Amino acid sequence: MQKISKIAVLTSGGDAPGMNPCIRAVVRTAIYNNLNVVGIKQGYKGLIENDMYNMDKRSVSNILNLGGTILKTARCLEFRTDEGMETAYKNLKDQNIDALVAIGGDGTFTGALRFSKKYTDIAVIGVPGTIDNDLYGSTYTLGFDTATNTVIEAIDKIRDTADAHDRVFFIEVMGRDSGAIALRAGISCGAEAILLPEKETAIKDLIADLKDGHLTSKSSSIVIVAEGDKHGGAYDIAKIVGKELANIDIKVTILGHLQRGGSPSSFDRVLGSRLGYAAVNALLKGESQKMVGLRANEILLTDLEEALTSHEFKLEEDLMEMAHILSI
Ligand code: F6P
Repeated sequence: MQKISKIAVLTSGGDAPGMNPCIRAVVRTAIYNNLNVVGIKQGYKGLIENDMYNMDKRSVSNILNLGGTILKTARCLEFRTDEGMETAYKNLKDQNIDALVAIGGDGTFTGALRFSKKYTDIAVIGVPGTIDNDLYGSTYTLGFDTATNTVIEAIDKIRDTADAHDRVFFIEVMGRDSGAIALRAGISCGAEAILLPEKETAIKDLIADLKDGHLTSKSSSIVIVAEGDKHGGAYDIAKIVGKELANIDIKVTILGHLQRGGSPSSFDRVLGSRLGYAAVNALLKGESQKMVGLRANEILLTDLEEALTSHEFKLEEDLMEMAHILSI
């Protein structure tokens, strides 16, 4: 088993609330185990540009409550090239770093896997950090809970004004190709309809449902549109529906990047701590090319390859059906 003495940690791709608690856990677990720790700034970009610094246990003081990531993040196309990877490898070797914890989503893991297959003397563990909740091998990803709570808070406010004016609101939420935020937020806010990439909604049914509810007994209707929905964004769908329901006052809200910010929830602080702690312990046990994830309240390892290829993340069919029935 390759002995590890110095590890690096980075956050990459879209930031997610909970990344800071995770960085803190990585740093302090490593130091507890007499490892040296290096923080890499701006994800793979910093790895290529050699933007790194030594971290000690005080480098991560008072960050549990902070959204974003103290290490900063980036989406780095250069790391997809052989030259980019080679420079990154050389930088790690120059610093005598023998293991890497990469916190991020599927783009981050794709890079991590390619890199660790090419340069097998650097052990790599991935931590699922994305608000999209779309990685196989972890029921929840870091940031999903906080982001969903942020969405709920916003939609509850929109419901107040929608109700006051008897309006229908189309609200677009993030998630890339995943409808996880839309579904959870939709159930939590009693949305009249939830449009998800995972399940095609017939627009004629949506119109019929809105007519049925809004024109008979409801004083407001909320339609949540996941950004990856096949019909296009909230504006496009509102336009189509508006043509059929000319006598209904329709408004559109795109929640956008506010969903990514804010102080992490208790759930994400604990999850970040558990995943960071587990990532370092996995490295100490000689693991590599794995992702740490939460399943049935246990932290388990999944092959990075499997985490990437086995998703198509499946949204729960029963929750979709329940949401529809409860919104009548
Ligand atoms: O992956 C997280 C995410 O917030 C997605 O939900 C969204 O589609 C995307 O990132 C937005 O990326 P950017 O901040 O680069 O525009």
